[in-house]
Amino acid sequence: MTNQLKNKLLEIKGLKTYFYSDEGVVPAVDGVDITIREGETVGIVGESGCGKSVTSLTTMRLTPGKVVEGSIHFDGKDILALTDDEMRSIRGNDMAMIFQEPMTSLNPVFTIGEQIGEATRIHFGYNKPKAKSHAVEMLKLVGIPRPEHIVDEYPHQLSGGMRQRVMIAMAMACEPKLLIADEPTTALDVTIQAQILDLMRKLRAEKNTAIMLITHDLGVVAEMCDRVIVMYGGKVVEESDVVTIFTNPKHPYTQGLMKSIPSLEVEERRLYSIKGNVPIPGSLRDGCTFAPRCEFAMENCRKDAPQLMEIEPGHVSRCWLHTP
Ligand SMILES: Nc1ncnc2c1ncn2[C@@H]1O[C@H](COP(=O)(O)OP(=O)(O)OP(=O)(O)O)[C@@H](O)[C@H]1O
Ligand SMILES: [Mg+2]
Repeated sequence: MTNQLKNKLLEIKGLKTYFYSDEGVVPAVDGVDITIREGETVGIVGESGCGKSVTSLTTMRLTPGKVVEGSIHFDGKDILALTDDEMRSIRGNDMAMIFQEPMTSLNPVFTIGEQIGEATRIHFGYNKPKAKSHAVEMLKLVGIPRPEHIVDEYPHQLSGGMRQRVMIAMAMACEPKLLIADEPTTALDVTIQAQILDLMRKLRAEKNTAIMLITHDLGVVAEMCDRVIVMYGGKVVEESDVVTIFTNPKHPYTQGLMKSIPSLEVEERRLYSIKGNVPIPGSLRDGCTFAPRCEFAMENCRKDAPQLMEIEPGHVSRCWLHTP
């Protein structure tokens, strides 16, 4: 079945998440549309500060920012309209997240086994022993040594890399319909990284899990994703299937990202080396957010902001170069 025919699982429309402080307003996410279909893996890329984490946290209703506009529908539910209780029953069950900062999602007063088991007891109705043995199984899957022992330990007894893997085990334990993974493997060594990606592939193949994969690693994007969304300054600037993004990127920003991929001999695959800096959110008034760094910038780029335009079916770009 082609992706176009699958049901939409997540549909984010016109989302704006802003932060307010004494210094002013930070429009961290500034009108984002994202659709993820059942079983689909969608990559979100873009430089530091472009709004990737805030977008994902807003989807889980975990951001301290204020949603000022837009809608989020997940599995037939209006996420922004749910009560806190309703949201809690979705989080960790149908929709689970692997965070950039593992400590934020682990509770210091419960053992690893209790934390992984808690969700499966609710979700699958497991009793205590069954939940514990399943937790051991999950720990084994993410490559934790001596899982029978670790299952009774507390988060502070583990190293950062181990905590990251525990969090991944926890997120996957309930076989969520949507897994949101924010830099899931960045902190881990290469062997473990490969294991975790394998595990995500397995979950996807066996359970048809959809994945929102936020990463700086374009190698991971190429390996894992069906579609790619490129963000810049709180907005989507380009979106297409993964092959097109690598072979025929249209937005000057995406082209810059692709040029900044080091050669294959180089191990280091982190982005990016486009001239200039990411704009401070809220610092730009008129025109395209990328214009100050764009080598193709024209007169109207600095005056009017371009809209997302469809260049070919399934491929959109936010650039005056592609706007008739
Ligand atoms: N709690 C917060 N309070 C105020 N501003 C915030 C907060 N969280 C994020 N921001 C701002 O929102 C913008 C987007 O941040 P976000 O964390 O989404 O970036 P990102 O794309 O995930 O970057 P990275 O690749 O470094 O993780 C940034 O300018 C950031 O400073
Ligand atoms: Mg982030």
